[in-house]
Amino acid sequence: MASPLRSLVNDDSRYEKAFRLFLQRSSEHQCMQDFIHNILPDILTSVADGKSHLNVIGVGSGAGQMDLEILSEIHQKHPGVTVDNEVVEPNSQQLHNYKAAVSQKPGLYYIKFTWNQTTASEFEEHWKEKKMTKKADFIHMIQMLYFVKDPEATINFFHSLLNKNGKLLIIQMTATSGWEKLWQKYRNQLFKGERGPCVTTGDIKTILDSKGLSYQSYELPSEMDITKCFTEGDEKGELLLDFLTQLVNFSQTAPAELKAGVLDFLRQPDCSVESNGQVIFNNTMEVIVINQLRRVC
Ligand SMILES: C[S@@+](CC[C@H](N)C(=O)[O-])C[C@H]1O[C@@H](n2cnc3c(N)ncnc32)[C@H](O)[C@@H]1O
Repeated sequence: MASPLRSLVNDDSRYEKAFRLFLQRSSEHQCMQDFIHNILPDILTSVADGKSHLNVIGVGSGAGQMDLEILSEIHQKHPGVTVDNEVVEPNSQQLHNYKAAVSQKPGLYYIKFTWNQTTASEFEEHWKEKKMTKKADFIHMIQMLYFVKDPEATINFFHSLLNKNGKLLIIQMTATSGWEKLWQKYRNQLFKGERGPCVTTGDIKTILDSKGLSYQSYELPSEMDITKCFTEGDEKGELLLDFLTQLVNFSQTAPAELKAGVLDFLRQPDCSVESNGQVIFNNTMEVIVINQLRRVC
């Protein structure tokens, strides 16, 4: 019998709504912005290396909020440098929102945007088909490696595009986050083998270490208020539950036992802390910045 559970990533409109609500209820983007404004500028110092033009690629850019912050930081750090910015984003709704944000934001004259409504692997296929030789100075993948079948192959491909002095920035959840605990416990029921492994920054570091790639990492403590998930029938609570489980209409379509198990587990100390009547989910992330050059052993 076909499973009634549908992956959220296949429903562009509901995914976009759920992600927007997640951003409202969490400190996710605030923590990233703090990193982009306070730590990224130093990381960007060596990227330009006297060049007057930089190639940037954003993979899984969503509506581009973090991409635009990064581009603005690149501009402040290297004024006078022009930027070619490839956007790789399969969700039509998100890509539309990104384009709208660009059209409304003044001062982006130094950037040429190339819009690719594709997944990371489709982008890779096109790149190889066209025998592209262009190299990139800065590539970022922010909270997107969960969605690719083979995270190691994806990292390999994008790392191979880096120029000398180029950097690949990845942001992903940590093994201590509630996400990892939830997805590990329920991965068989939630993902039914449709997804690759639940990738944490610990998994990524293991891959990088095995390849002798050098990197720096920075933890970003973050949280999300999931209190509404526990009010039966609350529209926002149900949307947040969709985002947590990455399933469409989880509350209505999940077997009762799975729903009760997930709701109970979300309250456990592995995932959340309860304080003043609120349930606060552990959304800890980590930034990994990979250098183009390998470590010298
Ligand atoms: C959690 S959102 C992060 C969006 C954005 N980077 C941010 O942090 O605001 C993940 C994004 O990855 C995109 N995505 C999903 N599958 C993908 C794939 N196979 N390749 C590239 N992007 C993908 C989704 O459409 C979504 O916009």
